[in-house]
Amino acid sequence: MNSVTEYYSATQLRSDRWSALRDVTAQLAREAPAKISPTLRSRADELFEQLAEIEAYWAFPGMQDFDHMRRQFSHNSFAELAFAVHRVARALTTGAYRRRHIPLDQAEADDREEHDDEALLSPEMRAMTKPYFEVLIVDEVNDQQERWLKSNVHSMRRHEDSFIYEAVVVPSVEDALIAALFNHNIQAVVVRPGVTLRSRQDHPILGRFLQGIANIDHLDGLEPVDFGPALCRLLDDIRPELDAYLVTERSVEAVAGTDLGNCRRVFYNQEDFVELHLNILRGVQARYRTPFFTALTEYSKQPTGVFHAMPISRGKSITRSHWIQDMGAFYGPNIFLAETSATSGGLDSLLEPNGTIKEAQELAARAFGSKQTFFATNGTSTCNKIVVQALIKPDDIVLVDRDCHKSHHYGLVLAGAQVCYLDSYPLNEYSMYGAVPLREIKKQLLELKAAGKLDRVRMLLLTNCTFDGIVYNVERVMEECLAIKPDLIFLWDEAWFAFARFNPTYRKRTGMRAANKMRARFKTDAHAQAYAAQQELLVDATDEDLLNTRLVASPQARVRVYTTQSTHKTLTSLRQGSMIHVNDSDFKGEVEQAFHEAYMTHTSTSPNYQIIASLDVGRRQVELEGFEFVQRQLEAAMAMRRAISTHPLLMKYFKVLTVADMIPEDYRESGTEMYYDPDRGWVDILDAWQNDEFVLDATRVTLAVGGTGWDGDTFKTKILMDKYGIQINKTSRNSVLFMTNIGTTRSSVAYLIEVLVEIAKSLDDLLDDASKMEKLGFERRVANLTLNYPPLPDFSRFHDAFRDDLDSPEGDIRSAYYLAYDEQSCDYMDLDGTLYNALEDGQEVVSASFIIPYPPGFPILVPGQVISREILAFMRALDVNEIHGYRADLGLRVFTPEALAEVAGKRNRPLRKAVAKPKTKPKSDTKTAAE
Ligand SMILES: Cc1ncc(COP(=O)(O)O)c(C=O)c1O
Repeated sequence: MNSVTEYYSATQLRSDRWSALRDVTAQLAREAPAKISPTLRSRADELFEQLAEIEAYWAFPGMQDFDHMRRQFSHNSFAELAFAVHRVARALTTGAYRRRHIPLDQAEADDREEHDDEALLSPEMRAMTKPYFEVLIVDEVNDQQERWLKSNVHSMRRHEDSFIYEAVVVPSVEDALIAALFNHNIQAVVVRPGVTLRSRQDHPILGRFLQGIANIDHLDGLEPVDFGPALCRLLDDIRPELDAYLVTERSVEAVAGTDLGNCRRVFYNQEDFVELHLNILRGVQARYRTPFFTALTEYSKQPTGVFHAMPISRGKSITRSHWIQDMGAFYGPNIFLAETSATSGGLDSLLEPNGTIKEAQELAARAFGSKQTFFATNGTSTCNKIVVQALIKPDDIVLVDRDCHKSHHYGLVLAGAQVCYLDSYPLNEYSMYGAVPLREIKKQLLELKAAGKLDRVRMLLLTNCTFDGIVYNVERVMEECLAIKPDLIFLWDEAWFAFARFNPTYRKRTGMRAANKMRARFKTDAHAQAYAAQQELLVDATDEDLLNTRLVASPQARVRVYTTQSTHKTLTSLRQGSMIHVNDSDFKGEVEQAFHEAYMTHTSTSPNYQIIASLDVGRRQVELEGFEFVQRQLEAAMAMRRAISTHPLLMKYFKVLTVADMIPEDYRESGTEMYYDPDRGWVDILDAWQNDEFVLDATRVTLAVGGTGWDGDTFKTKILMDKYGIQINKTSRNSVLFMTNIGTTRSSVAYLIEVLVEIAKSLDDLLDDASKMEKLGFERRVANLTLNYPPLPDFSRFHDAFRDDLDSPEGDIRSAYYLAYDEQSCDYMDLDGTLYNALEDGQEVVSASFIIPYPPGFPILVPGQVISREILAFMRALDVNEIHGYRADLGLRVFTPEALAEVAGKRNRPLRKAVAKPKTKPKSDTKTAAE
């Protein structure tokens, strides 16, 4: 396998190449010159070759020093070379180059009496150093001009600057894109008139990273003067957070009319570096600003007397205590000095923001690509209820994936929605659901249209991505639905997907980016023509034709998109910090007031200010280093996938579920089956992410553990948690989910692999010494977990008593929910006895509550839902201890036939007659859920 496919990420490749070069050059320095083997030499040569392709995109050590090292190598100055390479490798690892000049020769280093103790800097010391970044200058220049450009940049530095930066100079659009995708230190790009199109270097490694993410083939026909604006647009697409500055020789008028992507300012033909320098610093400062966090820190320093109902404020109730001093010692003083509330005055109010919280929310809107962003201090559970209440009136129809988070079901109950549940495709083998196929969504919409109810359909609510990592083709889903219902509102639950915004491939599948793209696209002539052409073709189309066609939305369709994100789940925020992002063309005109009321309904009047401050800081982080952190997270996850799926011992007992395991073939147009193929290396995922109906979020690694004989829950608690202190939060019957996050390091991945190997070894030992019967028992357990899986049941239907119209599936979940408040209307049935017999006799039995087994964690029954024999079979086969809504001592709470008859009577609805079905034998080997 060559180095291209061996590495998932170019950043990782770079740091590994420097470490390898350090080892090789150290060895060269140790050996007597006569004894140096040709292999060692050629290894060093090869590493220099590979690094030469990469180093041009980084400011440190810079091409000048790099070339110097190459010369040292060719002149056999191995001691000096080893010293320099050691310094570079170390500075790259510790990040010391961000804080100070790193001398690469011994004399200068001695002169400065430097010590390589950067890694030991205290957090306080680090916080005091000026943040460092790199500015990419794009211009075709010779070496002398490059030195001139860089020295100009250096001479601009002023003591009072808040940040320091170094310049990287590259000649072409292609090089600039590679640098932007690969060098995460870059925060600003200066595009100068000399920019060319193609790179002069041949890039077997980096070209791969560019392909598909930012293809520039369409630029081949452009005039050179248009390369600059085109580059700004491409940068906007791949790293929208960067500030671009365009230096042009064209007239103001010529440039003014063009789309300049993320260009913040145009400079005309000038070499005024002071202006440029000030703009660059201001651009970074605009992202660095944290209005609320700063206000809170300032507040904490002010002396105040507290005559307010919050004894913990200023730590007063703690410092004076004889019994809770340990709390003060544990948290330190600042957290209490910063404890305050809106009613104490001095700081903005979350419920009526018009100062620093408002500003912080506006900055978040910019960072996440929304039109409005609202902070929440009570998790996405609350965000979901707010959005649903703001948009749904009683009797509006909402289409929703049935395996969505419970907050949606409760939100829909409160709103009085008519709920139309959509079934996700099942993954029976692993007892988990996938996501809802687009065909299923379109089919429901067309059926509702045929029933004359399209005007009542208000919202489509889906989970993107799902807990297990299935990601929708968000833009396609929305466009095709809008083609049927042009004002449909979308709520994408992105509780697990806030980080996606900061990776160019992932971003394409987020609600906000898709909304912005659609807004822009719907206005184009090309779109109007595509729509008109399709309308002609579809004049006599049947529903089946519509299902089989990729539909184009009308240019007049409204783009109305909401996303809710648990910032605290995937980015830096204290627990419960979440955001609602809005991108709704009709928000101002139609929704704002209702949204405000809904926000008031669900938000505490004592919101936690620490959470709000952490959301503000979390936003700063992603705007400045989200790209880097998400990239590293992906690297860690990919390293984990690779290590587990290629380790011979691990392969005996475990399996990392691949894309093909989790997404059926029908939904994978690209044919991508896995991310890492042991024979071919890393598989190109870009095609899949561009086109497939569903893709798998690689940062979530689902491990099938059935081969160990332990079920997912036992593996999680008894093995991972109790024995090795490894925490995970999702299991299925025979799998566990390892989630990486932006804090995951390569060493934490290494630890996990070590633990898995140890577990596999201990299983090997156990089986070696096992008796025949013990082995048989193990095989049985494995077979039970990997072969005898209960099929996941579909949503059955709402009982007729809770339906207005038997020709369409939506149901009145709210009436059912409140009917269950009346004890007289409810009864209990046990799974194996009364309930089993009733279903066998063909009776309709209706659930009076939500029944949520953990795992899988979504309701398999909702109030008002008819209990099918498939659902009962599933429940009886489930071997989990935790089933919310189910009382082991009493059984399932159901409605009495009398209560159902009464409700049905009120709706003039006769009840269906019992029809006895052919008997099914109770499975003797399945455990009941209550056991
Ligand atoms: C899909 C989904 N939505 C919403 C939530 C609720 O988020 P929070 O924990 O921020 O309230 C969760 C929680 O796990 C979830 O999985």
